Amino acid sequence: MSLTENLADLQQRLNDAIGAAADEQALESVRVAFLGRSGDVTKVRRSIGTLPASERRDAGKAINDAVAAMEARLDEAHAALQARAFESELAASIDVSFPAIPPKLGSIHPVRRIIEQSCAYFAAHGFAVVVGPEAEPDYYNFDALNIPSDHPARESFDSFWLSDTMLLRPHTSPMQIRTMQQHRPPIAIVAPGKCFRRDAVDARHLFQFHQVEGLLVSEGIHFGHLKGMLTGLCRELFGGDQRVRFRPSYFPFTEPSAEVDTTCPKCKAGGTPALRKSPCNMCGGSGWIELGGSGMVHPNVLREVGYDPERYSGWAFGFGVERLGLSRYEVDDIRRFLNSDPDFLTQLS
Ligand code: PHE
Repeated sequence: MSLTENLADLQQRLNDAIGAAADEQALESVRVAFLGRSGDVTKVRRSIGTLPASERRDAGKAINDAVAAMEARLDEAHAALQARAFESELAASIDVSFPAIPPKLGSIHPVRRIIEQSCAYFAAHGFAVVVGPEAEPDYYNFDALNIPSDHPARESFDSFWLSDTMLLRPHTSPMQIRTMQQHRPPIAIVAPGKCFRRDAVDARHLFQFHQVEGLLVSEGIHFGHLKGMLTGLCRELFGGDQRVRFRPSYFPFTEPSAEVDTTCPKCKAGGTPALRKSPCNMCGGSGWIELGGSGMVHPNVLREVGYDPERYSGWAFGFGVERLGLSRYEVDDIRRFLNSDPDFLTQLS
């Protein structure tokens, strides 16, 4: 092949290679293969040495011209590729109606929701919502609630003592005393808050939990008012046909005292004999679940805060929020309320 034919062939092959190069990277490989240091053009240049001296000048010029043409051709292809990329970018349409990735929202904690609903219910009936300290002197926790220091009922509260006289409150009842000492009757309060007991933790016990306390003191207050308010609360929390029942019990600060139960929200068998064959796993077949403690405020408690028990009467109750959450949400383990596992919490959101 003559030099002229060789150069023509090179240019032809370059054109073909450029035509096949789809992007800038491929184009660069083509440039290296033809014009790079050990590319095809270099091989042709080397062949000049074999020519007679008189022909070398013209051969050199022919090669330089061919290289210039090839470089121009590569530049042109490069510009064309860039223009094409720009055009396809322009042509890409953006769908502004496409839904955005939704932000991850948290949800109200189920314990919080029960507290808020309970408070809203009582607030709608004229009760004030009050909150108090979580660490209390034994006076508010016990003495003022008719539990003197030698009273065995102190033991049952399993308190965390911070000093000889201070403890983490094991119930919200101290708020009864704090409120009554600051206000004259009538008193109508609901006191939600955190409580602590040194209970061994298991599926039904926590060392830290919430209670909602209620207190109504005025003239002529009787047990019927308590039953009415608690029935309304249970219907608010569980649905329209809930009922409540009272079982005789003992608390030093109420007389008479009662445990309050409400219709099992799962089998709804409260008041009717529960299904014997396959007992409900929520209430064990009794048809009732326990809500908390209640009773008529003890005369000693009224006397302690300077109220005349001959003139005033009242009731109080306290229920455990997490316990209630177990049956309201059919949760198998009370510890879930404390673990803050987002999978659990979003299921209840
Ligand atoms: N404080 C009692 C408890 O935690 C519950 C209770 C409150 C009982 C008010 C009677 C009246 O066990």
